[in-house]
Amino acid sequence: MILIAPSLLSADFLHLEKEVTLMQESGADWLHYDVMDGQFVPNLSFGPKVLADIHRISDLPLDVHLMVHEPFHLLEPFAQAGADYITIHVEACKAPQRYFDKISDLGLKSGITLRPGTPLEKIEPWLEQVDLVLVMSVEPGYGGQAFMPESIERIKELKNMRKKRKLSYLIEVDGGINTDTAKFVTQAGADVLVAGSALFGRKNPQKRMKKMRK
Ligand code: DX5
Ligand code: ZN
Repeated sequence: MILIAPSLLSADFLHLEKEVTLMQESGADWLHYDVMDGQFVPNLSFGPKVLADIHRISDLPLDVHLMVHEPFHLLEPFAQAGADYITIHVEACKAPQRYFDKISDLGLKSGITLRPGTPLEKIEPWLEQVDLVLVMSVEPGYGGQAFMPESIERIKELKNMRKKRKLSYLIEVDGGINTDTAKFVTQAGADVLVAGSALFGRKNPQKRMKKMRK
């Protein structure tokens, strides 16, 4: 089964409650929440307070993607705010093990991700530890960028590794996912599709999600 995780970065922040409800009613499985620090990536987004407010109005699993340099101090605040998954960037954390231990102590699920230009080998040591591997199919930092086709090979490789090593992480893909690119990534083995600009501010997100899932 394919899961769809609308990326709130593309939502209209003036009407966040309406946007969340619309995605929920349109069939979203998770909500994807992009946290940016202006350092690891040039852009800034939102923090635990906004997530806590969203948590009050939605029961959907909250999938937090930390594009933050050494975000250790943020793990607890995000757990308190209602996060279900916390994904860290391998390039942003010197000692990922410390993060995974803390995330599991907090009773949450953990994910690892990497920039499109970072070799896949960098995350291999952590595959046993994580519940989710996020394949970035754009350079992290902004919504609305074009899908990078190279990510398809990565998804396939992660699927093979999962089978070979008898692991069970979910493969999530993030960046440039729309009703066209969804086809290629799901065929390659993606389990969770993040989509921002293809769902928010568009007519009939329900129909779009259905098409993506197909
Ligand atoms: C980019 C973020 C993505 C972004 C995706 O750094 O991680 O989640 O919101 O946006 P779209 O779907 O518009 O490429
Ligand atoms: Zn993201």
